[in-house]
Amino acid sequence: MWGADLDRLRSLTGVKWTQDPPDVIPAWVADMDFETAPVIKAAMQSLIERGDTGYNFHAKNQLIEAWQDWQFDSFGWKPPADECHVVTATLNALSMVLEFMTEPGDGVVVFTPIYHPFRAITVDSGRRDVGVALDGPGYRLDAERFEAALDDTCKLVLFCNPHNPLGRMFDHEELAAFVEVCVRRDLIVISDEIWCDLTHQPGHIPLWHTFPEIRERCITLGATSKSFNLAGMKTALVHIGDPRVRAKFDALPPHFIGGPSSVGAEASLAAWRHGRDWLDKVVAQLTANRDQLMQRVADDLPGVTMHAPEATYLAWLDFTDTAIAADPATPLLERGRLALHGGAKFCPTASANARINFATSPTIIDEIVERIAHTLESA
Ligand SMILES: Cc1ncc(COP(=O)(O)O)c(C=O)c1O
Repeated sequence: MWGADLDRLRSLTGVKWTQDPPDVIPAWVADMDFETAPVIKAAMQSLIERGDTGYNFHAKNQLIEAWQDWQFDSFGWKPPADECHVVTATLNALSMVLEFMTEPGDGVVVFTPIYHPFRAITVDSGRRDVGVALDGPGYRLDAERFEAALDDTCKLVLFCNPHNPLGRMFDHEELAAFVEVCVRRDLIVISDEIWCDLTHQPGHIPLWHTFPEIRERCITLGATSKSFNLAGMKTALVHIGDPRVRAKFDALPPHFIGGPSSVGAEASLAAWRHGRDWLDKVVAQLTANRDQLMQRVADDLPGVTMHAPEATYLAWLDFTDTAIAADPATPLLERGRLALHGGAKFCPTASANARINFATSPTIIDEIVERIAHTLESA
């Protein structure tokens, strides 16, 4: 289905299908197994066939408007164009904000478990990693717990909405309470919304647009990398609502920020201008995959539980009540020939969890479940 068959996948040169030995099924990194959308391929091919590979800002110069239109059609908001920058990757913009607005030793808050580079960037730059647990039934954001974790050194929140790895779409009530604390405690918020298109129910809430009181302290990250499987094309957008951060970006020497290649820019432009039909079909497939995985986990993997993600193609599996609870990813790889990310990558106390990527074919999902079942049986 859409190229998610093992012959094509094993011919790829990306990290997902080359890092492990060929008998391993990789379900760790957040790339989809589907082929690139035909409209995106055509845009990239056309550039190459024209030999149009010199300095070329044709697509890059249209990207902010294309992102505005996409966000407006999807969620009813337009990030103001003069407050946006085109960057190479979301983490590139995130790292710059962190460098500009915090000092070594300052606290940077994340809601755990969390997409692991958030913590790595914080710790590697000498900032203090302040984790606030999302747990209990439903992994809801608890604003009181958030506030209790803060001290005067906390300056920045790296917020992931929808959330990787839990797949949570935070609801209005959770977000309102979160925003209230951020404003009262004078925090800057980076709202990473790059999963906003891949939701299993309507209702993604863009933070900047929905809560006017946070506008002057909010930075929003957007990209086609997840929705259209274009991570290797290195193109992302940042909207900087915070005037202090904007001033820092605007004062940078020309060439400092960098930007996408013209192939990357063409790909994202085609995605936002012509990719809606493809995306709708992909999301329907991902929702079916999620339901298939949920059902198979319940039926065939005794002791394993799975939180139903409201968004993303990632599932958070809990192996606490199994014989491989100490570190599920290791036996799953060694005996099951299945590569997942172990939970400790996302939170030091989540070692009994693992994150699984279900953006593949129903056949491969069944194979993944069989491999987990085999690992559990042989434990
Ligand atoms: C929440 C989140 N932010 C950022 C990224 C990285 O995105 P990009 O490669 O577009 O910078 C990922 C990748 O999985 C992600 O899940």
